[in-house]
Amino acid sequence: MTEPVIQLDQVSLTLGQGASSVHVLKGISLTAEYGETIGIVGPSGSGKSTLLMVLAGLERVDSGTVRIAGNLLNDRSEDEVAAFRGRNVGIVFQSFHLIPNMTALENVAVPLELAGKADAFAAAERELAAVGLADRVTHYPSELSGGEQQRVAIARALAPSPKILIADEPTGNLDQSTGRQIADLLFAKARERTMTLVLVTHDPTLADRCSRQVAMRSGRIEAGVSSPSLAASA
Ligand SMILES: Nc1ncnc2c1ncn2[C@@H]1O[C@H](COP(=O)(O)OP(=O)(O)OP(=O)(O)O)[C@@H](O)[C@H]1O
Ligand SMILES: [Mg+2]
Repeated sequence: MTEPVIQLDQVSLTLGQGASSVHVLKGISLTAEYGETIGIVGPSGSGKSTLLMVLAGLERVDSGTVRIAGNLLNDRSEDEVAAFRGRNVGIVFQSFHLIPNMTALENVAVPLELAGKADAFAAAERELAAVGLADRVTHYPSELSGGEQQRVAIARALAPSPKILIADEPTGNLDQSTGRQIADLLFAKARERTMTLVLVTHDPTLADRCSRQVAMRSGRIEAGVSSPSLAASA
């Protein structure tokens, strides 16, 4: 059996300085296999977004180990982690995070080009077509609906063929029907590519679509949550 794509062991992280410092993650251990879809749920402030940042190598942990796709991120330099992230982890945010003065095509192609990919624009065009936006490539974000902007963000995240796609409340800014279409797209892509999807959501319907739910509370993973894949691999 292949090694899990995500292996977090006893991860702790404090953010902020002095009086405003917060012990955000308190001994998080989490394992995920290729192709699993994981829904992270829990109250506001419980550390869900911070956990995603750790998975993406955007936050360095104070203690514990972070191993992604077999690579221990703890002792890598920031540049190494950034390069690793570019190849292995795609990220989608609630508020899309598109660059306003770039077209849909440029939003997808420019990061690919910066990562040194040949034919970045052709690849970007294929990714946009694959999310149903073939006829929107020359539009700027302000000329796109919220759902279309999120599709561009998903195409951008998928373009480097990441092993993990991380999504922080990907449907949080969308109406119910558009949100469902975006969720359909995320799950379809995860299945097509045997990509691991880790999403944070406050929407129980979306969480229920995941193969496993992880519930967080006050910086810890709550015990006793249904986790079929964990039980299967234990
Ligand atoms: N840079 C920081 N400095 C100090 N505290 C921080 C910092 N970033 C986050 N926190 C605190 O860490 C806790 C967890 O934040 P996080 O954003 O991970 O929560 P969340 O579960 O994603 O919440 P929400 O559902 O509201 O998005 C919060 O109490 C927050 O105030
Ligand atoms: Mg959050």
